[in-house]
Amino acid sequence: MRKKFRLLVTSASAVAIAAVIGITTTNNAIAEGKASSSLEEGKELAFNRKKGNCLACHRITGKDMEGTIGPPLIAMKSRFTKDALKAQIAEPRTKNPNTIMPPFGTHAILSDKEIDKIVEYVLSL
Ligand code: HEC
Repeated sequence: MRKKFRLLVTSASAVAIAAVIGITTTNNAIAEGKASSSLEEGKELAFNRKKGNCLACHRITGKDMEGTIGPPLIAMKSRFTKDALKAQIAEPRTKNPNTIMPPFGTHAILSDKEIDKIVEYVLSL
């Protein structure tokens, strides 16, 4: 009886371990896939609360917990060129000196490279 129980526990752990390994490898694969695309990197930077945190103020379709302080980020390509969008993110005070949108470039909240990636992502919205 004891032996049987032990065998059961061992096989249960084996299944659990296999499941964890399986999940971890899948997640890593997804994470690696993400890192390889600058569009995905830009998305991550835009959502990251310690980086762009754009959702604090903006609505991005398909995301909940979005903000309504700024306008929704939609149809971006039809309204912004790459340069105009970069300028808006790097130094929004050029367009509106009283804006509450943080000057991500001027205040070095985001690096130039990070802004480029976010621009790429936001233009895809
Ligand atoms: C603290 C709030 C806040 C945060 C965080 C913020 N914004 Fe804004 N954003 C605004 C406001 C408010 C406006 C409206 C325009 C103004 O104030 O000049 C704006 C305007 C914009 C516009 C112009 C939109 C249009 O339709 O004209 C873009 C593009 C933009 N933000 C992108 C971003 C991106 C990308 C991020 C993240 C890197 C971000 N914002 C983070 C508040 C914010």
